Amino acid sequence: MGSRSVACVLVIAALIARLGDAISTSTGQPHIIFILADDMGWNDVGFHGSNQIPTPNIDALCYNGVILNNYYAQPVCTPSRAALLTGKYPIRTGMQGSPLNNLDPAGLPLNEKLLPEYLRDLGYTTHAIGKWHLGMARTTQLPTYRGFDSHFGYRGGYTSYYDYVLQQSTDNEDLFGFDLYRNLTASWSDVGTYATDLYTREAVSMINDHDPRVPLFMYLAHLATHAGNEGKPLEAPQETVQKMAHVVDANRRTYAAMVSKLDESVGKVVQALKNHQMLDNSIIIFQSDNGAPMVGEYKNWGSNWPLRGMKDTMWEGGVKVPACMWNNQLRGAPRVSYDLMHITDWLPTLVTAAGGFSTSLPYDTDGLDQWSSLLDNTLSARSEVLLNIDEKKRTAGFRRGSWKLVIGQSGNGDYDHYFGEDGTRNIRFVAYDFYGISNSDVSRALSTVSRITTQHEMAVLRDSATVRCSWRNVSTCETAPGKSCLFDMDSDPCEQRDLSRIYPHIVREMKRSLVYYKGRLVPQKPRKQDYRANPSRFNYTYHPWLDHCLVNCDT
Ligand SMILES: *[C@@H]1O[C@H](CO)[C@@H](O)[C@H](O)[C@H]1NC(C)=O
Ligand SMILES: *[C@@H]1O[C@H](CO)[C@@H](O)[C@H](O)[C@H]1NC(C)=O
Ligand SMILES: *[C@@H]1O[C@H](CO)[C@@H](O)[C@H](O)[C@H]1NC(C)=O
Repeated sequence: MGSRSVACVLVIAALIARLGDAISTSTGQPHIIFILADDMGWNDVGFHGSNQIPTPNIDALCYNGVILNNYYAQPVCTPSRAALLTGKYPIRTGMQGSPLNNLDPAGLPLNEKLLPEYLRDLGYTTHAIGKWHLGMARTTQLPTYRGFDSHFGYRGGYTSYYDYVLQQSTDNEDLFGFDLYRNLTASWSDVGTYATDLYTREAVSMINDHDPRVPLFMYLAHLATHAGNEGKPLEAPQETVQKMAHVVDANRRTYAAMVSKLDESVGKVVQALKNHQMLDNSIIIFQSDNGAPMVGEYKNWGSNWPLRGMKDTMWEGGVKVPACMWNNQLRGAPRVSYDLMHITDWLPTLVTAAGGFSTSLPYDTDGLDQWSSLLDNTLSARSEVLLNIDEKKRTAGFRRGSWKLVIGQSGNGDYDHYFGEDGTRNIRFVAYDFYGISNSDVSRALSTVSRITTQHEMAVLRDSATVRCSWRNVSTCETAPGKSCLFDMDSDPCEQRDLSRIYPHIVREMKRSLVYYKGRLVPQKPRKQDYRANPSRFNYTYHPWLDHCLVNCDT
């Protein structure tokens, strides 16, 4: 062959290679898919070392990206979502307290600019699917008025999984209302479809209808695996429950099926990105909003083992959540990151990833730009995290370096325990299915754009992502109102040995920092129930009730 024909063959080869390639956005900006699980525990994913619930798609995503194993969210739903979308600690917006109820006029302050608004400014199309939980008294509090081009989902804390009804307890009676909307219109025709399937179907059709040259931000905030209404807290399709037969405890078995449906959803979304040639240019984030609740009103039979505590506490089981990120450009991936990271960090991080300047964000942004840390595997920008200050419950949590300070008591101490390896006694042993991970929808999709992590590498990653504690030599810090416990997280990830008496000066120093943060705290509003929101006034839906309000319209 002459040199000309060699060149010609090379050009043709390059053209053929491009055919399989993803379509880049015309600006080079990545698509951002943020998948948020609700109340899912540390121990409810396979990549943290548990064999109880198979999560082959989530595991495959995490094993091919960066597992964020020192990553903190907030202890409950509303504050976590507020922190994610504002990039600020909830104490700055008055959102540090209890989650909103569906009759509550409060919400995330309207003067806050939210992540989808920043991304929209950078040219993104922005879609929210699933849960909102940041205010629903006025139309202007809803997602389509806060930076999202569309919202399909619910506005309150949760619904049932087939009927989309929330039972709101009040002092006098239980109210029932429907909460599923396409933008501002109640979506009655979707009753009967399982929520996780419904939101997945929406996400997939959103991706299929999307012009891949325009950067997409999709916020997919699932109902799973939050508990539903009293009397029927757990719901999953019967055929999925039957696949979890190795889980003998009936409640945990249904919970396992709810997790399994969520896992299936992750597979379908990643497949859709691949089919629509968007995958190569996507950032995919998976995380839970807080730990699983083992006791209390919304207990869901999730497990945070071996971490201490649960949702609504400052313990690791409340705030350290399963999390990972995938992107095809990550250097040094796959890996497990032990760098400190906080849910507020996504806002500056994603603004930078989207081609913006995190340095131009408001001065009171608490999130730190972790983009180069994630992308180039360089040191985290973060050395401390304010885990929360709840001035009403008188609880606080603070991480500085390896130190962690926990102050106060939750649920009168009932939430502060270790809850055991949930249901272990009732679970027939099943082997961890590496083969199932390699053959999951996620693995098959990722393999079209990148090299796939081998089963041997997965085993190594899993081992290093598994938290192990010695249950000898435990000196549990008994909680009490106002009491401080101090831990060295590097040597004691399970918060078993209180060091507050050995290092009183560290406690004092950390408390001084908390006093500083408290000086900037916006007091939380009392949780109200405004009976004008009674669903019976709105065809039994939860509907913005203060839009035309003239008296007592305080939100
Ligand atoms: C509402 O929904 C539709 C389709 O889901 C979308 O095209 C439209 O732009 C949305 N936004 C608003 C503000 O109505
Ligand atoms: C066990 O606890 C004692 C003090 O309570 C401490 O000196 C010792 O180092 C601990 N041992 C281990 C293995 O942590
Ligand atoms: C009122 O609710 C029912 C379902 O309970 C629904 O079929 C109907 O369309 C709703 N009416 C209006 C006006 O939205």
